[in-house]
Amino acid sequence: MIDLGLEGKRAVVAGAGYNPVRAGHGRWSAQLLGAAGASVACVDIDEGRAKAIAAEITEAGGQALPIVADVREPDEVVRAFDLVTAEFGGVDVCVDIVGLATWDGLLDITPQAWDAQLRENLTQVFYVWQEAARRMVGQGSGGSLVALASIDGMVAAAFHGAYGAAKAGVISLAKTFAHEFGRYGIRANVVAPGNVGGGNMDQPPGEYAVNGINPLAAPRTVDIANSVLFLCSDLAARTTGQVLVVDGGATTAELWGVTEEMLPGLRVALP
Ligand SMILES: NC(=O)c1ccc[n+]([C@@H]2O[C@H](COP(=O)([O-])OP(=O)(O)OC[C@H]3O[C@@H](n4cnc5c(N)ncnc54)[C@H](O)[C@@H]3O)[C@@H](O)[C@H]2O)c1
Repeated sequence: MIDLGLEGKRAVVAGAGYNPVRAGHGRWSAQLLGAAGASVACVDIDEGRAKAIAAEITEAGGQALPIVADVREPDEVVRAFDLVTAEFGGVDVCVDIVGLATWDGLLDITPQAWDAQLRENLTQVFYVWQEAARRMVGQGSGGSLVALASIDGMVAAAFHGAYGAAKAGVISLAKTFAHEFGRYGIRANVVAPGNVGGGNMDQPPGEYAVNGINPLAAPRTVDIANSVLFLCSDLAARTTGQVLVVDGGATTAELWGVTEEMLPGLRVALP
């Protein structure tokens, strides 16, 4: 048996609910944390979704607490963590799933749309991690901070430039939180998903390279949740400030246009 070190840990998942038209990263991550033995505070802006995921975890034999809060509001974040502390006694793991891309060309993004995208995808991560880190420092027993970034924060984010810039900011935040709080045993990492889209859990295993984007296969919601779980766990005890890219190979893009057929003409003998 491999011990993930999550038994009895107190976890907060911001955006833990499930919206069926979206990928379900919060729900899968919260479920895995619950299955690994952590108590899970399921924070969501939507009451029904918060209660539904908390009920799923409890029905599976875990411990969960639904909390309704909009994490874009710093006061709401503090209130949510107060509720977690009152129920669980503290927080050891904090996962932030919240984020959403809007689409527009760079020339059409208004100042209001830019601000809203940064608040949705970057500023709220700062609020959530800041409050979690504050409490973890006070507890003196370390902790793990995880957020979802995106490969859009690492390569061009055509027609969602504000989202890409915000996700690049999340990657930067992970490095800075890792650096400032490492001496307290607090780790900070991000998972950067590729094109999960609206979720593709039904994609058959064993079918590779079915599109021109992923040399392996498109990542699934469960692949993202497994990576979140790893970064939360003791298996990542010395991993901090890192980006775990889960994109089915999309960012390995070959830049020279070389194909197998071209190889005979390219081979040179060394003198
Ligand atoms: N699906 C993909 O292809 C993909 C790719 C890269 C990154 N991502 C990232 O995944 C995350 C979204 O995952 P998803 O689509 O499974 O989640 P989602 O959009 O369904 O959101 C999960 C939950 O968060 C809640 N939520 C939204 N705003 C909130 C707020 N302000 N406060 C509290 N709760 C809030 C929603 O009600 C929902 O239940 C984002 O960070 C996104 O950037 C997704």
